[in-house]
Amino acid sequence: MKTKRVDFYYFSSTGNTILLVEQMKSIFESRSLEVQCHCIPNVKPEAIDIRNTTIGIAFPVAYFSSYPFVWRFLKRMPIAKGVDAFVVNSSRQHSGTIRRQLYDLLAKKGYKPIGIGEIPMPSSANFQPYDEEIYEDSVQEGVLRAEMFALSLLDNSSVWPSENMMSKLTELFKLRKLAWRFLNRDFKLVIDTMKCIRCGICYKLCPADNIEMEHYPEYLDKCQHCFRCVSYCPADAIKFKDKEKFYPHTPVPHEKILEFSL
Ligand SMILES: Cc1cc2nc3c(=O)[nH]c(=O)nc-3n(C[C@H](O)[C@H](O)[C@H](O)COP(=O)(O)O)c2cc1C
Ligand code: SF4
Ligand code: SF4
Repeated sequence: MKTKRVDFYYFSSTGNTILLVEQMKSIFESRSLEVQCHCIPNVKPEAIDIRNTTIGIAFPVAYFSSYPFVWRFLKRMPIAKGVDAFVVNSSRQHSGTIRRQLYDLLAKKGYKPIGIGEIPMPSSANFQPYDEEIYEDSVQEGVLRAEMFALSLLDNSSVWPSENMMSKLTELFKLRKLAWRFLNRDFKLVIDTMKCIRCGICYKLCPADNIEMEHYPEYLDKCQHCFRCVSYCPADAIKFKDKEKFYPHTPVPHEKILEFSL
């Protein structure tokens, strides 16, 4: 790595990506690099300081792509001639066309894409019970991969592989703007006011400003399906309207998600 400083710009809906970023941060710091973390969408892309730094971008995969607010952020990043940039994405299985899309986007803006770490982690969308031990192992493995990726960046051996056949296939299914509207109907969230303790955590956690907090929280129509609110509600008061049950996976305490969201 060319610089002594790394700036992470990242989003994590349920905590997996936070764990990856934290691990990479600790590796970089152990090599005396200065690391700053900035949370998408709270930080403004216009505020990105590209001087003497390497840019790290980290986010979860959603529907073979990522959330519209993540793309909005990435598209508004400043032009940065020759600034090194790397990407970490966490996904359950497959990150679709992100590899190519991000390479193109960064290169077009003048960044030098120096490596991408596509790291499998447990699913944040569980409508069936899951095996906690298997998920815990998967977290440990993911964190280890993040460590290896950080080391490869440090010794300049990281790579940005070209697209494979699977990525090309998923291009066909990649969800476009209109499809989010359709998903809004399928994944409609509702509050059980009998259970809600009006703590406001869902309101504070929502990255899409989709929750209004009056007497009880109320959903608007801008949900981007990050599943943060339903995963971290302490009273189990949020349900999917047309689904029987949701099994949240919450690898970090909600205080940490809040801390990383401010
Ligand atoms: C709405 C939604 C869509 C998802 N789509 C994909 C996907 O297309 N491919 C995949 O491998 N994982 C997918 N996942 C799983 C997440 O990418 C994965 O669990 C990720 O590690 C979550 O990271 P986070 O905890 O930092 O948000 C999806 C999760 C959600 C909530
Ligand atoms: S997080 Fe749960 S308990 Fe707290 S306000 Fe939201 S719905 Fe109610
Ligand atoms: S309403 Fe819930 S699931 Fe939708 S964007 Fe906000 S936090 Fe995420």
